[in-house]
Amino acid sequence: MSFTVIEQAPARLNRSELAVPGSSARFLEKAAQGAADVVFLDLEDAVAPDEKEKARKNIIAALNDLDWSGKTVSMRINGLDTHYMYRDLVEVLEGAPGKLDLIMIPKVGTAADVYTVDCIVSQIEAATKVEKRIGFEMIIETALGMANIHEIAAASPRNESLHFGVADYAASTKAATVGIGGPNPNYGVLTDPADDGSRDYHWGDMWHYAIARMVVAARAHGLRPLDGPFGDIKDPDGYTAQARRAMVLGCEGKWAIHPSQVDLANEIFTPTEKDIAKAKAILEAMEQAKKEGRGAVTLDGKLIDIASIKQAEVMVNKAAQIAG
Ligand code: GLV
Ligand code: MG
Repeated sequence: MSFTVIEQAPARLNRSELAVPGSSARFLEKAAQGAADVVFLDLEDAVAPDEKEKARKNIIAALNDLDWSGKTVSMRINGLDTHYMYRDLVEVLEGAPGKLDLIMIPKVGTAADVYTVDCIVSQIEAATKVEKRIGFEMIIETALGMANIHEIAAASPRNESLHFGVADYAASTKAATVGIGGPNPNYGVLTDPADDGSRDYHWGDMWHYAIARMVVAARAHGLRPLDGPFGDIKDPDGYTAQARRAMVLGCEGKWAIHPSQVDLANEIFTPTEKDIAKAKAILEAMEQAKKEGRGAVTLDGKLIDIASIKQAEVMVNKAAQIAG
């Protein structure tokens, strides 16, 4: 291990993160009753400019009047390049003091963006005498944000998670796609001709680099990495495949932009009985190895060693966190 100890963000279950437009009081009510681990109340891109004021009012009422117990509640503010952002913070944090757990900062580009929000939030918390410290979630969804991702991840002790915002990221990088997440038929590999001249075309994952880079930056700073939206709400198989890819790379969870995606995310990001049993068998075999003074043994014909203990502990600890 490095001599540098990575301080971990507060442990929160974050398998699913449901996006709810603040402009719809009915959707806010349904979200409070749903099964998402985290709900983010949106003031940004799901809310039209003329609806921003109403959305703030709806969110204040929802925070004060609805029962959010058992959930983490976040609010996505507008970007720092708009004139809405400061009022989002002032109105909602003063109108519903102590109710939000997290604030989501969209299109974050530099560490100074995080610093700016931190400064305003700190002042409001002090003025309203709220002792609970709000945490930050940052959406990495611009080329600038991706370029500065490590500085952003380290920018505030409030930071808890990084999210990959695939739609804005595609726009910002001028990717030739208009879908929200998932694969693209133009991103593929054509194999060399086989002896009979036949060739195969394999679709690749055009988001691999971005998600992998975000996972590394998040984990290097003790934050949770989250995969963002998947736009085709009629394609649960596509959602599942995308979520599984993100999970295997190290993401803790995925956004749900429709309630039907919440159960999928909760299931995918919960280790299976089989995975847990295997992880426990590794821990038992390594315990036995330790007693025998050995650092490596074989289990089911495969080599395992001290690193396997750490891998298995990730799985077992996650299962324990979910069991609560
Ligand atoms: C999320 O905000 C996205 O742009 O994908
Ligand atoms: Mg976005």
